Amino acid sequence: MNGLASFISNLELEKYEKIRLFKSDIRELLLHLSKKIFDEIFILYPDPWPKTRHEKRRILNEKNLNLFLSKLKINGRIFIATDVKKYFDSIVKLFESNVNVKIINFNNFYLRPKKVIITRYEKKALSKKIKPLYLEVKKILD
Ligand SMILES: C[S@@+](CC[C@H](N)C(=O)[O-])C[C@H]1O[C@@H](n2cnc3c(N)ncnc32)[C@H](O)[C@@H]1O
Repeated sequence: MNGLASFISNLELEKYEKIRLFKSDIRELLLHLSKKIFDEIFILYPDPWPKTRHEKRRILNEKNLNLFLSKLKINGRIFIATDVKKYFDSIVKLFESNVNVKIINFNNFYLRPKKVIITRYEKKALSKKIKPLYLEVKKILD
């Protein structure tokens, strides 16, 4: 099963009235949206680009974070999961330095928020006994 099929099969489809899929660079879609339309954004197992010279390719950088936040409603939440501790630490720093958001799950980054589904990459991590890390963030200011 490929990533998209696996993602769809993990969704509890009956919970949703409408599902729209955009199978391209998410930044293109975000740039085209004129309004804040999202209540929640899930960024699950973003490519970690572990080599220092590739770090600029990471989806979670300051510019992209501001792009995500610009389409998230006030009090909306962003959920992130990764099994790469170094990347996770840099993501936490990124959010900590942004005054528009508040980290919700400081007490335990290893506890999966109920809303986060178990994806293909999460299954891979668990099968290798790697503990995933989660971040739940609330947008508090525009
Ligand atoms: C490590 S995989 C994780 C896949 C899935 N979320 C999971 O947890 O099993 C990273 C995914 O991010 C997608 N991706 C990377 N950059 C992206 C971007 N700019 N826009 C949309 N998807 C992107 C890749 O195509 C790939 O499917």
